Amino acid sequence: MLQKLDKNTKEWYNNKTKYLPGAVCSMVTKYIKWENNKGFCPEELEAAKELILTGGLVAFPTETVYGLGGNALSEEAAKKIYAAKGRPSDNPLIAHIADIEALNLLVDEVPEKGKRLINVFWPGPLTMIFKKKASVPYGTTGGLDTVAVRMPDHPAAAAFLRAVSVPVAAPSANTSGRPSPTLARHVKEDLGGKIDMIIDGGQVGIGIESTIVDLTEDIPVILRPGYITKEMLEKEVGEVRIDKGLIAENVKPKAPGMKYRHYAPKGELTIFEGEQEAVIRHINHLAEEYSEEKVGILATEETKDRYKKGHVICVGSREKGTISKELYRALREFDTWGATFIFAESFSGEPHGEAIMNRLAKAAGQRIVYL
Ligand code: TXA
Ligand code: MG
Repeated sequence: MLQKLDKNTKEWYNNKTKYLPGAVCSMVTKYIKWENNKGFCPEELEAAKELILTGGLVAFPTETVYGLGGNALSEEAAKKIYAAKGRPSDNPLIAHIADIEALNLLVDEVPEKGKRLINVFWPGPLTMIFKKKASVPYGTTGGLDTVAVRMPDHPAAAAFLRAVSVPVAAPSANTSGRPSPTLARHVKEDLGGKIDMIIDGGQVGIGIESTIVDLTEDIPVILRPGYITKEMLEKEVGEVRIDKGLIAENVKPKAPGMKYRHYAPKGELTIFEGEQEAVIRHINHLAEEYSEEKVGILATEETKDRYKKGHVICVGSREKGTISKELYRALREFDTWGATFIFAESFSGEPHGEAIMNRLAKAAGQRIVYL
């Protein structure tokens, strides 16, 4: 006799094809605005809520990057998210919530250290991994028994999540492999015509994705570096480890998404690290040597006038600490301009340098030249 397969089992999920067909680009995407001093137009917020509750996809701003939202408790919504992004479906999604009560819909028990981190860092750019409740579909968790949860600190995200009242699964709202969106127009570039709605809340504040910390073991483990650093976490909960998969080449990262080559501009990107004057001299020299090519240079407010050749794109200011906020915009601009080679300064010594360099080094395929 044939056994009826329960759809909410890991086996059923893992037996399905990992790559879903890409979304058809034939939808009308509605645009609505959230403004700092005005908030949402109530009818538009209502429309966004209706879309989520009927299985649609709505991109929304958070303080880190724009997210592509769908109902986190719906297997079908998760499928649509993977298809729109062209993302492998074994790469789990983060569930976003507006208040602590909503955590009960995702998790049965929050460990003590989790509670402490929630008190200090939520709402904020910290994602925590917990054991999932049975009712959370494997579509959302990419077939894992754990779930990633975050309470974003952005008034538009908070109002939107409060209105929909279900947890919202949201990966970054980019096509898989492209830099995460920090402006609504980046979302439009990648997903216009493939999703139901985009909420435009202007430029995001932080610009790189949240720190991910796994709380399913006694000692918390960082699976993705971000704005909240290891030191900040250790101050609250004692020892914190860094996933070996982030450092060692032959170890598989625990966050499935970290194994994919992300944030890649189309041109070949190389990072130059060393004393500032030496870096500027070297890049100037290379730009001269590669003058037949379309050379892009990733510079800062402080150094942009020091480059003689090539197309200089400014990635914010070291002094003002705006590098993370501007990084993905700058990488996208190289693509728009059509750079074939990109030479970048290094930002490892800056505040949040570890998180910035994690993204930039990935975009460079780890091509770093030490001068
Ligand atoms: O800042 C952010 O986190 C943004 C905004 C929209 O909230 N979201 C975001 O999502 O960056 P995404 O899907 O681009 O990245 C989620 C990462 C992936 O690397 C994924 O593998 C990992 O989180 N992840 C999700 N659930 C996980 C789980 N249960 N165990 C381990 N890693 C998980
Ligand atoms: Mg992403």
